[in-house]
Order: sequence, then structure tokens, then C-alpha cells
Amino acid sequence: MARTAILNVMVQAATKAGRGLIRDFGEVENLQVSRKGPGDFVSAADRRAEEILRNELIKARPTYGLVMEESGEVEGTDGNHRWHIDPLDGTTNFLHGIPIFATSIGLERNGQIVAAVVYNPVMDELYTAEKGRGAYLNDRRLRVAARENPADMVFGTGLPFIGRGDHGRALKELRYIMPETAGIRRAGAAALDLAWVAAGRLDGYWEHKLNSWDIAAGLLLVKEAGGYVSDMEGKDKMLENGDVVAGNEFSHRHILRLLKTAASA
Ligand code: IPD
Ligand code: CA
Ligand code: CA
Repeated sequence: MARTAILNVMVQAATKAGRGLIRDFGEVENLQVSRKGPGDFVSAADRRAEEILRNELIKARPTYGLVMEESGEVEGTDGNHRWHIDPLDGTTNFLHGIPIFATSIGLERNGQIVAAVVYNPVMDELYTAEKGRGAYLNDRRLRVAARENPADMVFGTGLPFIGRGDHGRALKELRYIMPETAGIRRAGAAALDLAWVAAGRLDGYWEHKLNSWDIAAGLLLVKEAGGYVSDMEGKDKMLENGDVVAGNEFSHRHILRLLKTAASA
């Protein structure tokens, strides 16, 4: 699989940041047993990873804008291109020594995401996609799962936690979706949830109120793997409102229908 120059830049940045995260993750595992816990150390690891990504991307494309989780938005002199960067997606997992986290980079050109990298350094899984050129896990071309029967499907989602999100709505949605599926997973990293839909591991996924850095790359991965993505209304407004439903033709339709039922219940 030949990568374009821009995708190579993104891969290099994500793998460099990933190497730093792996080193820091080892330290977090040690800090687990300390009284104070690894909280401050993890915030520093997060910022270090973002610094690496920022430096690498600016060095390669100095005129592009950046939307970063930790340091906010930097406007570029080129009005057409922006990076959406999550240096560490799955912070709570990282903090607790759970090895499910990733670095995510999406490139927006004229309002559309055209290139994506999601890198899980622990599993050394590199997910890449470019608009019109397919999605890959390392060198393997990805296709979303082909299952048609909801009873055989496994869905991913994100659940709200203390001080965040609409807990009542989440419970209502689970109440309608749980009885109709083979299982629901809450892995704790939205970028990986979407990458896993692209890889056919999850049949579908939904979550509310995410940020552009969580989903920019993952949305393109799913589309390039032949999947469907929309917001809860079935519209292409995910980057605006942060609501996401992803899957194959059948699971996507199925989740949308159940969410609608839950919303009106
Ligand atoms: C979070 C993860 C999680 C999702 C949260 C996100 P972070 O990102 O993607 O799965 O449920 O809403 O904020 O904070 O770990 O970068
Ligand atoms: Ca995130
Ligand atoms: Ca993050």
C-alpha cells in the first residue's frame, strides 16, 4: 500500500507520539500503587504527546491550522486546511493502567476530512485512511462487518460519567438497544471505537457530544471501510454537533431507529 506524502507525515507524527505514550504508560502502571495516583503525571504525558504532534505537523505543513484538545485552536495562514488532534484518546483508561488508548489525527480540507490516522501504540495497530483510497489496519485493507441480523451484532458506545453527559438519556438508550443485540462494549476511546467499526470488530457504534478531535479521523476510517456514519438524525453534522452513529448499512439503520424510539419514549 503506497501512502501519500501527507499521510506519511501523519503516520510519523502519530507513531512518534505513541512511543512517548508507551514509555509514560509504563510509569503510570508503577504509579497505580502510589497513594497520590498518577493524575498529574498523566496530564503531563498528554501534553507531551500533543507537543510532539504539534511540532511534527507544523514542521511539515507550517501554514495549516490546528484544533487540539489540550492547547485549543491555532488558526493557520492557509484557510483551507486544519488538523484535528487528540494526543491521547482514552485518558481514563491510560490513567487506570488499561491498555486501550490511541492518538488520533484527522486532516480537514475545505470542510471535509480527507486523511486519518488512529494509532494504538500498545497493540501497535495503525489505522489509516485517505478519502477515496480506502482504510487500512497496518497493511491490511479494512471492510466493515457484513452482519445483517441485529441479534448477532456487537455495538460500542460511550457512557456519561460523573459531571458529564445526559445520564437519563444514556440509560433509556441502553434499555432499548441492549435487548436487541449480542452485546454492548464501552471501550473508553471514541477514536478506537470508530476504528474498530472500520475493522469489523464492532458492528456499530453510537455516542453523543464528542469533539472534533475525538471523531475526525474515525469517521473517515468508517466511510473508507464501506460503512455509514451520521448524527442521530441521520444527517452529516457529526463534526458540528458531536453526535455519531456508525456501522454498516443494517446496523446504522437499526441503531438510528432504536435511538429514535428511545428519544420519544
Ligand atoms: C474521551 C473518550 C471516551 C468518550 C469521551 C471522550 P478522552 O476522550 O473518547 O471514550 O466517551 O466522551 O471525551 O478524554 O479520553 O480524550
Ligand atoms: Ca478524546
Ligand atoms: Ca484526549
